[in-house]
Amino acid sequence: MSIKTILRMGDPRLLQVASPVTDFAAPSLAELLRDMDDTMVAAGGAGLAAPQIGIGLRVVIFGTGEVLERYPEAPPVPRTVLINPVLDVLPAGSEDLEEDWEGCLSVPGLRGRVPRHRRLRYRGFDAAGQPIDREVEGFHARVVQHECDHLDGILYPMRIRDFAHFGFTEVLFPGLDPAED
Ligand code: NI
Repeated sequence: MSIKTILRMGDPRLLQVASPVTDFAAPSLAELLRDMDDTMVAAGGAGLAAPQIGIGLRVVIFGTGEVLERYPEAPPVPRTVLINPVLDVLPAGSEDLEEDWEGCLSVPGLRGRVPRHRRLRYRGFDAAGQPIDREVEGFHARVVQHECDHLDGILYPMRIRDFAHFGFTEVLFPGLDPAED
C-alpha cells in the first residue's frame, strides 16, 4: 500500500497533457493503479487522475460504488479504472450544459459551480486492457469530465464561468465532511 502526495494547483505538472498508456502488461501500470486507489481512498475522493500524483499518463479512477455524503442525490458511480479515455458528448454536438458544485483533491478546501455536458459516451480500457464503453449522465458524466480534464492539464476552476459561485467548502457548506473530490 502506498499513499502518494497529491499535487496542488500551482504545480506545473498539473497543467501538462498526459501521454497514452501503451503497455497494459507493464508492472509499473499495476503499481500506478494500486497507488492511485490507495491515495484516493485515503483522501476520501470521488476520483483521481494519474497526473495528480505526478504521473503523466492517461489514467483515471473514479467512483466508490456508494452514495456520497456530499452528493446525496447522486446515484452511486461504479468503481472504475479508465485508461486512454475518449469522451463523446451526447447527443453529438449538444451544448446541453448544466452547472453543479465540484471540488478537487488538488484544490483543497474550495468548491465551485462548473458547467459540464449532461450526457456523454465514454470509451477506454480497464486495468486488464479490456474495452469500456458506457453512456452516462448527470453526476457520473460530471465526474468523468472532471477526471479526464486532468489528463489535458485542466483544473475545474479554469472552467468556472461565474466566480460568485466559488468559495471555501466550510463557508459554502457548513457541517459538510471536509473531504474533497
Ligand atoms: Ni480533480
